[in-house]
Amino acid sequence: MFKIAVIGTGYVGLTTGIGLANFGCSILCMDIQEDKISNLNKGIMPFYEPGMEEALKVNMACNRLNFSTKIAEGIEWAEVVFIAVGTPQGIKGKADLSAVMNVAELIGKSLNGYKIIVTKSTVPVGTNEKIKEVISSFNTKKHDFDIVSNPEFLREGRALYDFYHPDRVVVGTDNPRPVETIRRIYRPLYLNEIPFVFTDIRTSELIKYSCNSFLAMKVAFINEISRLCDAVGADVSKIAYAMGKDGRIGGKFLHPGPGFGGSCFPKDTEAMKMFAEEVNVDVSIINAIIQSNNTQKEYMVEKIKKRFARLKGIQLGILGLAFKSETDDIRESPAVFVVKRLIEEGAVLRVYDPQATENAKLVLGEKVFYAINEYDAIINADGLVILTEWNQFRNLDLLKIASLMRGKMFFDYRNIYDMAEVENSSLIYEGIGR
Ligand code: UDX
Repeated sequence: MFKIAVIGTGYVGLTTGIGLANFGCSILCMDIQEDKISNLNKGIMPFYEPGMEEALKVNMACNRLNFSTKIAEGIEWAEVVFIAVGTPQGIKGKADLSAVMNVAELIGKSLNGYKIIVTKSTVPVGTNEKIKEVISSFNTKKHDFDIVSNPEFLREGRALYDFYHPDRVVVGTDNPRPVETIRRIYRPLYLNEIPFVFTDIRTSELIKYSCNSFLAMKVAFINEISRLCDAVGADVSKIAYAMGKDGRIGGKFLHPGPGFGGSCFPKDTEAMKMFAEEVNVDVSIINAIIQSNNTQKEYMVEKIKKRFARLKGIQLGILGLAFKSETDDIRESPAVFVVKRLIEEGAVLRVYDPQATENAKLVLGEKVFYAINEYDAIINADGLVILTEWNQFRNLDLLKIASLMRGKMFFDYRNIYDMAEVENSSLIYEGIGR
């Protein structure tokens, strides 16, 4: 049973820790935040993620999963150390690597024998070499260690499922020594014939950015087509369907919406732009993705504005604040962007999200009214705006909505409704590109 330390208890770290505990490894998850660790020790999750709290409790009960803030001691205990701390957007869009480098320093100081250091955090090309340098410079007793780049591709809201059913596992190394151990750690996936991509460290780092940028590009592309559809009177749903049937394109990630958000796509496209600039490579597609996504977010506000003579005093019911469904994460949420812009324009907002309200309160404060459910949000509203595709928003009682609202506008910015059905309830439907 491998002794594995995971540093960082965010989405990536906790999913890795719980997932590997389920594979039978002995896991110590660590974080500098005392309250987070103390809650985890009581079985309380720091964020909402379907199925995760149950898995947490099961593995804790079997004593395969433990939590601590004593990071140096944890490193000394472990044979393999996963780095899963955040790499948020820093100055000018560059990835902020300070947390990663602090961990590298601590690893260097705490080495007490050969260890494998696995980087799960998304880091720009060349970072793992810097991690190696930092560890070496604090490794005064000259213990052997190896660095492995092993990027994580999980989706929030399906994190554990994605950990057990990845499309592929990418492993970047600059020497063969750690490969067998990594294979053995991921043995259950190996047995399930999940494809493994063994490569060098730089290629592995760039695989992660290439995947996220490509997916962001698909979303930005279909959103751009939706704007064209609005202008020329075509139907983006049919276009996306027909495009998706082309095996070379594929149907996934072609759903129009208010723009992509979350903790990965916005930050990774920005970071890719920055490190491409540093090596003097023109990445005009990456630049266009970022710009096009910003246009889409603002376009949502423009579309609402067009329907009212002025937004000042207009009351809107907002359904959804999370950047997508099945998460309470509002980082870079296009919904929050739209809400902030509507407030600037003088609109009066009643907002509702099934999971993200507490997080939203931290950024929106008293500027909006927090409704207790979707119907409470639209009482007396001039319009309703769907910004996150939660399942519970897919089957609203349209007649009840029409009777509770004072106006008629139904802005479906996730295109989850049938236009005719909405209009049968004497509401005026407006989707994106339909
Ligand atoms: C993403 C990647 O999928 C994952 O591989 C990576 O490692 C981390 O980032 P996640 O952040 O959970 O995962 O979000 P995802 O479900 O992929 O969606 C990203 C954004 O694109 C969301 O804002 C979502 O609403 C939007 N989106 C996605 C669309 O607007 N249309 C689509 O068709 C798909």
